[in-house]
Amino acid sequence: MRQAGRYMPEYRKLREQHSILDLCHTPELAAQVTLQPVERLGVDAAILFADILLPFEPLGLGLSFAAGEGPHIANPVTRQAEVERLPTVDPEADLGYVLDAVRLARAALPADVPLIGFAGAPFTLASYAIEGGSTRTFTRTKTLMYQAPDTWHLLLGKLADLVGRYVVAQARAGAQALQLFDSWVGCLSPADYRTYVLPHSRRALALAAEAGVPIIHFGTGTAPFLEDFAGAGGDVIGVDWRVSLDEAWRRIGDAHAVQGNLDPAALLAPAAERDRQVKDILARAAGRPGHIFNLGHGVLPETAVAAVRAVVELVHGG
Ligand code: CP3
Repeated sequence: MRQAGRYMPEYRKLREQHSILDLCHTPELAAQVTLQPVERLGVDAAILFADILLPFEPLGLGLSFAAGEGPHIANPVTRQAEVERLPTVDPEADLGYVLDAVRLARAALPADVPLIGFAGAPFTLASYAIEGGSTRTFTRTKTLMYQAPDTWHLLLGKLADLVGRYVVAQARAGAQALQLFDSWVGCLSPADYRTYVLPHSRRALALAAEAGVPIIHFGTGTAPFLEDFAGAGGDVIGVDWRVSLDEAWRRIGDAHAVQGNLDPAALLAPAAERDRQVKDILARAAGRPGHIFNLGHGVLPETAVAAVRAVVELVHGG
């Protein structure tokens, strides 16, 4: 994820003229950015250029991105009545520009490079909808979860339904795999994950499975409850660097493929250290089928393109 982005000069150049939302809203530009990492890095798959927060626009939450401050949600939801009033989003009608970007990107990509569509998982989306932006502590999110569990479950249920239908629409438009991002779910205890999140992730992933394409269930900080996280669904489980790949795979089980798990900061290390970490991950995967080499989280803006290319080449056996 965040395969495209500010570390790439060609992305920064487009960003001089267009806001991130402009890029997302304009299918030709979104498709162009989707192709940039494939051309520049030689990666095996493309991830659609979009953002997990785009469904907040048709939900009426008011989405903007302030330079250097991340996302801003103008109308956060915290009350039962606000959650009840959330409209039902029709992906074809309300997020048609994303589906158009899928179609254009698919048509422009080489036939042997699959296109991955994606959405946010219910918890990670809810955290932005409740907090109104990024947070370190998830205070408002957890307050709502504990103080108003009925409102919480209503909200997560609505988001699960939305993202499930949204990714199915992406697959119909040409996405050949789908990824659900639960980027911040690691802020929860194992017990709270099970009670407040797992049923909704399971529902979103079950809906997504109707698309009939492989589903990647990604999270960070999930090591304390990896069995439950994998049990929620997905054919591929995305893990970060806080757990070693062999241990993660043992706990997830052989029925799943595993994606991961280089620390994005390793791309800032001297080449010898970076390569050592890449080889360590490959050794822990031990040639088992179903390992997707990836970073445990997005490429950091400070990263040199040459470092990313070097990792791709090393993984490809160069
Ligand atoms: O190649 C790709 O992966 C690009 C497509 C993509 C973007 N966002 C574009 C984007 C994807 C897959 C995402 C997912 C996303 N967005 C997640 C889940 C994955 C993760 O990284 O955890 C989350 C939590 C978001 C929400 C979001 N969008 C935040 C918190 C920010 C600000 C980050 C920052 O560093 O400023 C964004 C903005 C955003 N979305 C950028 C990109 C490339 C960064 C920048 C920009 O051009 O200003």
